[in-house]
Amino acid sequence: MQKRSIDSKIVVSEVVWPHKANIAGNMHGGEVMKIMDSTAYASSRRYANTNTVTARVDELEFHLPIFIGDLLTCTAQVVYVGKSSMQVKVVVEVESLECVGACRRNRALTAYFTMVALDENGKPTLVPELIIETDEEKLAYEEGKERYERQKFKK
Ligand SMILES: CC(C)(COP(=O)(O)OP(=O)(O)OC[C@H]1O[C@@H](n2cnc3c(N)ncnc32)[C@H](O)[C@@H]1OP(=O)(O)O)[C@@H](O)C(=O)NCCC(=O)NCCS
Repeated sequence: MQKRSIDSKIVVSEVVWPHKANIAGNMHGGEVMKIMDSTAYASSRRYANTNTVTARVDELEFHLPIFIGDLLTCTAQVVYVGKSSMQVKVVVEVESLECVGACRRNRALTAYFTMVALDENGKPTLVPELIIETDEEKLAYEEGKERYERQKFKK
């Protein structure tokens, strides 16, 4: 069976409330990582059509701070698959709701989550092959393959 990368795309938005921030108003890193993990789960769960768990997080970078009152948008999409594992690219964008007119969404965080598909006995199970349609998807696939081979080599 084969599936398209775009069909695994999940977009989640939420406003940052004070209970998720420190006293200076910055959103806690752990809070934003929780949203990223949950969005990566939804993307991989939809792709694999079975339970999935997080095995690894790579290249997690905090590019910009996120503050109370900002609108956060988290996007996750499967970009590479092995046998039972999937690499999900997760991007968090942030936008100030106080901005008037054409407000820019800026990239605040990026990461690659390795999610593993499990069968009903909790054992790794095969996932569909990935259909690559665009040049951007092709590049993301090649980068994912390099990451996958690096991780296999380390084991
Ligand atoms: C992830 C897990 C299921 C892998 O089990 P395992 O017995 O090591 O399975 P395997 O060695 O057969 O590996 C299965 C796949 O996972 C990948 N994998 C396992 N550990 C990995 C790691 N640390 N980093 C990247 N990939 C990993 C393997 O490369 C393999 O990929 P492939 O099938 O596409 O080739 C197991 O380690 C686990 O349950 N970890 C805890 C997960 C968890 O609780 N997460 C938090 C809650 S969601």
